[in-house]
Amino acid sequence: MLKVKVAPSILAGDFARMGETVRKLEQCGADYIHCDVMDGNFVPTITFGNQMIEHIRPYTSLPLDCHLMVMRPDTRLEGFARAGANIVTVHVEECRSLTVQTLRIIKNYGMKASAVINPNTPVESLYDCVEDADMLLLMSVHPGWGGQRFLPETLQKIEKLRAFCIKSGKPDMDIEVDGGITEENVDAVIEAGANVIVAGSTVFRSQDMKWTISRLHGSAK
Ligand code: DX5
Ligand code: ZN
Repeated sequence: MLKVKVAPSILAGDFARMGETVRKLEQCGADYIHCDVMDGNFVPTITFGNQMIEHIRPYTSLPLDCHLMVMRPDTRLEGFARAGANIVTVHVEECRSLTVQTLRIIKNYGMKASAVINPNTPVESLYDCVEDADMLLLMSVHPGWGGQRFLPETLQKIEKLRAFCIKSGKPDMDIEVDGGITEENVDAVIEAGANVIVAGSTVFRSQDMKWTISRLHGSAK
């Protein structure tokens, strides 16, 4: 079984204390820091951009996993590379036929490249990316807000995507799932074939972050 990694989303954190927050997440056993970049256009919400990445960079040695919910992410890649991002994920809905090319540009900047689809986009839309991607992300809620309920139909998409990766000779592909993941449904997500778990509200609402992050690694670890 692939090693499960937990990527707490700082979207659920206190934006006035991000440095301390990412330091604490690292101390509590997080594997990545998931950074939800929203531009108010691709999704209605505005969060932060590459400047936040640059500012939190000195507070953690963990990979900064940047999920770009923005229009024209191709125009933003250099800024994220300079800021110290490690993984950049772009939406297939926005990049369309240029998704594979965008993944290659991300890798040319020395970052890991990942593609993501929204809940209403068929999983087959990611198949073209399998060869070039370091990671593939499935949204299990509609992007834009934390604290929504996990859409159960995502489980079938995870299974299909893992099967396709195995068939394509990339059985170790990182498959990340984002949205509505809790202590209760995480085992089903892992069992379906995901190995990178994003969690915002579940981690930040917890009374014991260390325990919760450990639990989100799955009970079969
Ligand atoms: C949604 C974001 C998610 C979100 C997850 O647009 O991409 O990363 O922060 O938050 P929870 O875990 O609260 O659903
Ligand atoms: Zn996200």
